[in-house]
Amino acid sequence: TRIYISRDSGALCVGAEAVAKKFRDEAKSRGLDVEIVRTGSRGMYWLEPLVEVETPQGRVGYGPVKAAKVGELIDAGMLEGKAHEKCIGVVDEFPWFKNQTRLTFARCGIIDPRSIEDYRAHGGYEGLKKAIAAGPKAIVEEVLTSGLRGRGGAGFPTGIKWRTVAETPPQQKYIVCNADEGDSGTFADRMVMEGDPFELIEGMTIAGIAVGATYGYIYLRSEYPHAFETLKIAIEEARKAGYLGDNVMGSGHAYDMEVRLGAGAYVCGEETSLLDSLEGKRGEVRAKPPLPAHIGLFGQPTIINNVLSLAAVPLILDKGGEYYRDFGMGKSRGTMPIQLAGNIKHGGLYETAFGITLGELVDDIGGGTYSGRPVRAVQVGGPLGAYFPRALFDTPFDYEAFTAADGLIGHGGIVVFDDTVDMAQQARFAMEFCAIESCGKCTPCRIGSARGMELMDKIVAGEDREANLVVLEDLCDTMKFGSLCALGGFTPYPVMSALHHFPEDFGAAKKRLE
Ligand code: NAI
Ligand code: SF4
Repeated sequence: TRIYISRDSGALCVGAEAVAKKFRDEAKSRGLDVEIVRTGSRGMYWLEPLVEVETPQGRVGYGPVKAAKVGELIDAGMLEGKAHEKCIGVVDEFPWFKNQTRLTFARCGIIDPRSIEDYRAHGGYEGLKKAIAAGPKAIVEEVLTSGLRGRGGAGFPTGIKWRTVAETPPQQKYIVCNADEGDSGTFADRMVMEGDPFELIEGMTIAGIAVGATYGYIYLRSEYPHAFETLKIAIEEARKAGYLGDNVMGSGHAYDMEVRLGAGAYVCGEETSLLDSLEGKRGEVRAKPPLPAHIGLFGQPTIINNVLSLAAVPLILDKGGEYYRDFGMGKSRGTMPIQLAGNIKHGGLYETAFGITLGELVDDIGGGTYSGRPVRAVQVGGPLGAYFPRALFDTPFDYEAFTAADGLIGHGGIVVFDDTVDMAQQARFAMEFCAIESCGKCTPCRIGSARGMELMDKIVAGEDREANLVVLEDLCDTMKFGSLCALGGFTPYPVMSALHHFPEDFGAAKKRLE
């Protein structure tokens, strides 16, 4: 019998390693022929550790499984896929999973992420093969056609970024993958790197060929040790199999890459400070222009893309840009891997076409709060994203719709809060976060965030509340328009959204704002 157990960090921290060991021990002592395959996660974290058993009907899932209960489950006929209170049936048919549109995450949780054969058996490297046959210009055209936009948060068209680098004169160019996933409530990058690393490696190789870059770096946050290990193994495997090196798949193109660990600063997820950090300097934001596409890593033209942007590329090249573009709404094409987190019943990774509403995501798919209390607010797009009240739950997941509602979808993280949340404290936290993480280069952010914290303390204490709220709004305006990068520039979003949508938590503000 073949069983599948995730090695994803989210599964490991709830005991997946002990569960796998227990299965090995039980199989040995009972003389059972059990093969354990370690996979990535399906993204249904409330069911982890999820154990899947191969049956003629498909993989039948059991979860969450505790190591102490493994013997009992085997006795109950789990290895034959028999029904049990922990059984969710065939995983591919489980509604939460089945209703998704898994393009980027098609293989995650299914294959052995360390096996290049398994990757190829599930369609891997088909995109690269077609990319090589099509040639650099056609690759860029395909990405343009797909409508893919930067999944790191800014939503800039990936094809235009690639074209900019492709059009620079031939010279040393680089591909840099931003894997410094720092937003609260986000884990999609990590899931790709732990569950389907060859997809990212293939996407970066295609990018290299498209723009004439021969070397790539994955800048990985140091808090992801499991992703680090998996990526290193996968890069080595890809090199051994001829997918990286001087002559990629016999194409005559050279492309190789490595992983570098970050040093734990949120601002190093900002592309220019990431480049400084990668060059061995202190991670400090550079002024733009020049764009990294013109003067990037070590002063050379550089593509910097988020993990999810690059991981979407192999499928686009394999199935065509139009196939990808056919999903989504408006100018938001394709799918978005949405991460449901915080106080939520069914937290996890939900990949779906753009256009789904916030309410569907939180209430129907997420199942409301974990605490069982009413949902009061959700923060979308990380610590710099706006708080949304229930009144805005009909907002569709779409870059433009979120901008119109004074928010951002960012990297697709949704953090849910119940009715015990104090929104004034959340607003203070945004200022505090900015003060701690500021790189210090520009005044609105460096000084503004510290003053913002003091102001929030005064407002909460009821000290000169009306006057201080006016100053707070003015300060937010200065930070928004005067900061050099998104850290200082976006901190006003959580602050102002909390103030506008939840004025009752700011005391006297309620009267004034109404
Ligand atoms: P941006 O709008 O300045 O740039 C977006 C990207 O497009 C950059 O790579 C930039 O170099 C490139 N670009 C712009 N014009 C170009 C042109 N003409 N040709 C070629 N390339 C061009 O946004 P920024 O500051 O890079 O990112 C801000 C976003 O980051 C926010 O929306 C926020 O949601 C997100 N963010 C994500 C985090 C995460 O953990 N994923 C953490 C913090 C913020
Ligand atoms: Fe640095 Fe903050 Fe200015 Fe960004 S906004 S450059 S993090 S000081």
